[in-house]
Amino acid sequence: MKKKTFIIANWKMNLSLSDSSNFLKKICKFKMPLGNLFEIVICPQFLLIPNLSKLLGSIVKLGAQDCHYATSGAFTGDSSIKLLKYFKCKYVIAGHSERRILHKESNIEIKKKVTLISSEGLTPILCVGELLNERKKKLHKQKIISQLQESIPTNLKNIIIAYEPIWSIGTGTIPSVYEITEVTEIIFNFLRKYRNHTKFHIIYGGSVDSKNFKLILEIKNMSGALIGGASLHIKEFKKII
Ligand code: 13P
Repeated sequence: MKKKTFIIANWKMNLSLSDSSNFLKKICKFKMPLGNLFEIVICPQFLLIPNLSKLLGSIVKLGAQDCHYATSGAFTGDSSIKLLKYFKCKYVIAGHSERRILHKESNIEIKKKVTLISSEGLTPILCVGELLNERKKKLHKQKIISQLQESIPTNLKNIIIAYEPIWSIGTGTIPSVYEITEVTEIIFNFLRKYRNHTKFHIIYGGSVDSKNFKLILEIKNMSGALIGGASLHIKEFKKII
């Protein structure tokens, strides 16, 4: 059976109400030659979600960029999974490097988020990846393994792991096929060995565009991409699809 390919747009803190609506309406009209072998997911900022959830067709799924690890409570400024579910989100990103760095999120907190996302029947998209100096010092394998060990609960149903080297995000620099393959293997072997009841897909994120996407997809055990900048432009996103 042919494996599923994920094209996941992380819009980060971009696009207005009208630009995001127009974007989604256009994608919903796309002709998808390979139908359900592709999963197209849009992850907009929270305040766009209620409006976009009204415009969803069958082609596009909605995801969120984060959620809190508790279902409700005194957490000023956070958003709950219950509301994300209500607005038809099927995926939630957890542990994006921008949240790890700018919001000081730890693996312990991320693991709680992953657990909640899955227990609510949504799919967590867990981001892992190393800093440039960690790669230069050849510490990247160790970093990825500890992120996997500490953020993936043992009895999880399903997960998407996005390998996002921090030095590649928004820089236009992408790792070589060899470098991506090395990490993909680490993730694959870890999940097979230590989380063998978990259904998983591995994707790549960091400066993905219409020129490099095909090459990335050819990597062994690679199931798609988490796309930032290039997912904000309808023509470019269409080319990727
Ligand atoms: P860019 O595609 O802009 O490098 O962003 C990648 C990313 O952070 C997706 O989550």
